[in-house]
Amino acid sequence: MSRGPSAAATPAATDPSASPDTLGERAHDRSARGAPGPDGGAAGAARILAGADEIVPCTSADPDSVLAGRAVAISGGRIAGVGALAELRRRFPGASEETLAGGVLTPGLVDSHTHAVFGRTRADEYALRASGVPYMEVARRGGGINASVRDLRGRSRDELVALALPRLAECLDHGTTTLEIKSGYGLDTDSELKTLAAIAGVAERVPQRIVATFLGAHEVPPEHREDRARYLDLLVEEMIPAAAEQGIARFCDVFCEPGVFDPEEARRILNRGRELGLEPKLHADELENGGGAELAADLGAASADHLGAISDAGIAALARAGGASPPTVATLLPATLLFLGRTAYAPARALLDAGAIVALATDFNPGSSPTPGLPIVLTLACSQMRMSPLEALVAATAGGAAALRLDDGTGTIAEGAPADLVWWSVPDHREIPYHVGVNRVGRVWVGGIPVVERDVSGPGAAGGGPGPGSARAGPEGGRGPRRISAEPRAALDGDPPR
Ligand code: NIG
Ligand code: FE
Repeated sequence: MSRGPSAAATPAATDPSASPDTLGERAHDRSARGAPGPDGGAAGAARILAGADEIVPCTSADPDSVLAGRAVAISGGRIAGVGALAELRRRFPGASEETLAGGVLTPGLVDSHTHAVFGRTRADEYALRASGVPYMEVARRGGGINASVRDLRGRSRDELVALALPRLAECLDHGTTTLEIKSGYGLDTDSELKTLAAIAGVAERVPQRIVATFLGAHEVPPEHREDRARYLDLLVEEMIPAAAEQGIARFCDVFCEPGVFDPEEARRILNRGRELGLEPKLHADELENGGGAELAADLGAASADHLGAISDAGIAALARAGGASPPTVATLLPATLLFLGRTAYAPARALLDAGAIVALATDFNPGSSPTPGLPIVLTLACSQMRMSPLEALVAATAGGAAALRLDDGTGTIAEGAPADLVWWSVPDHREIPYHVGVNRVGRVWVGGIPVVERDVSGPGAAGGGPGPGSARAGPEGGRGPRRISAEPRAALDGDPPR
């Protein structure tokens, strides 16, 4: 199942049967049909999760929104209720109950900006950059994005799927239940379509919800270096129409940065995508200011991403566009700046205080951010960008969903939202970013179906450490949980991977 550019509008929270905005037949869809989950139970029957120290609904960054002593009811793959256990028992008579060992329940994380389908890693460049060669200089010497392009062009779609699956399992282990994946390492028509087909192939095999973005304007490929106008024509006349026709991508993105594509080129490309049903997104003002944020706001793009070098005018533009319907979201990718050795981060505080809607994402890619996990991004958001832990969690859940224009409640724990949940082995949500470099994800559900269980016992864990709540047992009753599954979706179905 894919969402083509001509597909129906985003489904309403109350209409789970409407066309999805994400790719693949998801765990949620199976669960809505009442298909058995991997725990053997009928996932369609109501279940209550109780016993969490905190539930963080991520519907607001107001500290009063964090709930203590509350439970969540799940039915048909969606959140059926949030409230006191006694109230949920009354509302859902006969529901099965599970008592969590303290800990914190959040919505599944939404990683709204990744390049997770690629070939080889680029550790060779990393070593070069560590010796002092800047990222853009590595690209000028033939490395960078075009190194990944040369590599990807020689690989088959199936090879790309096989390489991506373990990465997606790692994303899931770190709590990501929805992620966007961009093309952009093909940069010719066939290789871009192959990449998008690989993204669709990945979506069929993993539990996560996947949203695809066409990024043919990621770089000018080597064969057009001397004639970039020809590449722009190719994008507009051939590649974007072919991607729209293929029906896998929902968004069209451009790397709008001095030395890559300028705002006028980006405008032309994004307008063409929009004409053919692909909504605009932008890599904007990543390393140098180029007016990308203003362009995103002007176009009403779904998001302007990076913003490490955004201007004051760009901040004002994104603040205004945050109030539009639908809004343009400011997506911040601090792991990229960390990995590139930058010391200045995007002005999250100024954006939030001005009224912009902020999302946090990994930018998972082989060149500038080889991290599959959002927890380190949450830490950077708090330590380097002065976001509160709650603001960071909201940005990595509801903010990401807004950047992907998913308005079915994804990224929140609220009635009608997909039952995509993460249980963190910490007694307080502030400890999620606090444990720097430590993955405290204990359990993950997609569409109400448990898909990951990890061993997160240790000092400070909800189940066994010295902190508050430490007297409680782990969710498996008395000891830290084992990781039992981060299976590709096909395996959950019992289907052999293709
Ligand atoms: O978002 N900025 C452009 N694209 C990626 C980098 C991709 C790469 O180096 O392979 C980014 O940082
Ligand atoms: Fe990127």
